[in-house]
Amino acid sequence: MKKKAVKIGQNSLCPCGSGKKYKNCCRNKKIEISIKEEYKRKYDINLKEPHQIEGIKKSGILLMSILNQIEKMIKPGLKTEDINTFVHEETIKAGAIPAPLNYRGFPKSVCISVNDVICHGIPGDRVLKDGDIVNVDITPILDGYYADASKTFFVGTPTEQGKKIVSVAAESLKRGIQTIAPGATLGDIGYAIQSYAESCGCSVVREFIGHGVGIDFHEQPQVFHFGTKGKGVCLVPSMVFTIEPMINLGKKELHVLEDRWTAVTDDGSLSAQFEQTLLVTEDGWESLTPYEL
Ligand code: MF3
Ligand code: CO
Ligand code: CO
Repeated sequence: MKKKAVKIGQNSLCPCGSGKKYKNCCRNKKIEISIKEEYKRKYDINLKEPHQIEGIKKSGILLMSILNQIEKMIKPGLKTEDINTFVHEETIKAGAIPAPLNYRGFPKSVCISVNDVICHGIPGDRVLKDGDIVNVDITPILDGYYADASKTFFVGTPTEQGKKIVSVAAESLKRGIQTIAPGATLGDIGYAIQSYAESCGCSVVREFIGHGVGIDFHEQPQVFHFGTKGKGVCLVPSMVFTIEPMINLGKKELHVLEDRWTAVTDDGSLSAQFEQTLLVTEDGWESLTPYEL
């Protein structure tokens, strides 16, 4: 004999005993749980629990305190190795781990990318000089939680070309972030970035992309900085990912140096990047590594 399923009315008291109406209580939870399962199964995306979001946020606060101190240190004559030492020591002092160190063989605790270096520059003997632009990309692991962010700084007095590429890269990230809301798609983010950067006569690097982040360094989804409106995975609350457009003043093509990390522009033109770790909220977004753009 078949049993008849008991139907719970939308307005009846929730069977969990909360005293709330079912429609305002466990009916939503059931939907949230199924979206979480669906995103894991279909896309391998880890929608984050509230305690995980808190953990990533704390890691982001540490990251931003280190990045803000570096901003004040940047001047002609500073060695990139000195920035690495500072990031390493501040990270350890806070009880955290620098994620880049030994990540797939990366030899240092931070990525430092100067002028035509697009990303993954290895700190060393290079000395910053007046007019350089330098990206510093930091990822601490605090209590197991990863936050990932970077900024491109001017060294001394900026050149006209430096001012242009840094401004276009910052605005590209800003426009990408501003598209984030439940119901928007990853393609909307890529479109906003690509259409803006190209309208400025600049190009978008294709080989390196944003990524899910938080419980691992690089999680799903892949966040492209180019794309088509309405295409790609739909954003839902509790998604956490980076947006980190690398924008070149000249052509988009790149090559990787002998060290197997340093990515540079083929045409030698300047490249700039800004990155933040973003959370999709019920009504938009929150940066877990916030700074003004
Ligand atoms: N922080 C970079 C990113 O934004 C990744 C650097 S990987 C490393 O994804 F090994 F070079 F550190
Ligand atoms: Co990143
Ligand atoms: Co990064």
